[in-house]
Amino acid sequence: MKIACLPGDGIGAEVTAVARDVLSVLVPELEVEEHLFGGAAILATGTPLPEDTLTACLAADAVLLGAVGLPQFDGADVRPEQGLIGIRKALDVYANLRPARQGAVDLVVVRELVGGLYYGPKGTREDGTVFDTLEYHPTQVERIARRAFELARTRRRLVTSVDKANVLETSRMWRRVVTEVAADYPDVELEHMLVDTAAMQLVTAPERFDVILTENTFGDILSDEAGAVTGGLGLAASASLGDAGPGIFEPVHGSAPDIAGRGIANPAAMLRSAALMLEHGLGRPDEARRLSAAVDTALEQAPTPDLGGNATTRDVTAAVLVALER
Ligand code: NAD
Ligand code: IPM
Ligand code: MN
Repeated sequence: MKIACLPGDGIGAEVTAVARDVLSVLVPELEVEEHLFGGAAILATGTPLPEDTLTACLAADAVLLGAVGLPQFDGADVRPEQGLIGIRKALDVYANLRPARQGAVDLVVVRELVGGLYYGPKGTREDGTVFDTLEYHPTQVERIARRAFELARTRRRLVTSVDKANVLETSRMWRRVVTEVAADYPDVELEHMLVDTAAMQLVTAPERFDVILTENTFGDILSDEAGAVTGGLGLAASASLGDAGPGIFEPVHGSAPDIAGRGIANPAAMLRSAALMLEHGLGRPDEARRLSAAVDTALEQAPTPDLGGNATTRDVTAAVLVALER
């Protein structure tokens, strides 16, 4: 088993280092190779997703990714985030699963990851108007909808499909296709919800949701919100899966320039993403469970500042390693 590790920028590098330490103890036979990505890759090679990096990712069993983003590139023509957008498309990891769990809340955002506004035609017209285009083909909607229904079958069997059908053509097609797919899953309940209502309900009644199925941009926003109501971005993990080939496993959070270099980043989101990799990417569910349990224990013993404690990244790592030994 070989994984490609892309630390990226800021706290991305800090938390992937933790994941490497923990994985070397948990799955000693796992081969890990690091590659340039994001702002670090722009500085070294001029591009955020060098060809060597992409080739290595395509040949790996899974990709473990930290985060990208450096303030110095904000607004530049070549940006770290373009590497992320590019690798998701190149690996066709269309299904981005973002679980959020705490107390009575247990939901997962199923975000379409390789379509919509992020990938539609964009540019500047002669008169100075700047545009991004929101477009989806029905087949893109169908495959992500199937993922959501399959996932719901392993959970509480409720899919909430989120759209803006009162305004957008793409959303009306989304709603029609999701309704058609639902006919193949009579054992799963489907409800449609407008995105503004969904944003409100996520804050006021997050426990009502099981599987939230939505398009790329809405999913980006709602998954940060789901993270925030279940303990914050320091805890929120994600798995991005295609139909074949390696998946990408990365925290929901970014490079956090405001705390980078201080040794206080919460590595839990990264470690939980590593657990998702063990489960969905490498077929190692037992190790995945052991890692998740060890992270839960460590967070109780050594909470980082984002959780109201004063533990460092190293303290959490040590606590995870101790919990794994037990
Ligand atoms: P961010 O997620 O980096 O940070 C938001 C807030 O959450 C910050 O206050 C940060 O300190 C805190 N935070 C995030 N992760 C944390 C952790 N593990 N432990 C403790 N606190 C944590 O979002 P931002 O500040 O809006 O973006 C910073 C950069 O990251 C931008 O360049 C953005 O494009 C990029 N970004 C990348 C990804 C990714 O690589 N997947 C995701 C989001 C943002
Ligand atoms: C995320 C991030 C990315 C996204 C950015 C950095 C391109 O916010 O993974 O949620 O919008 O998908
Ligand atoms: Mn985001």
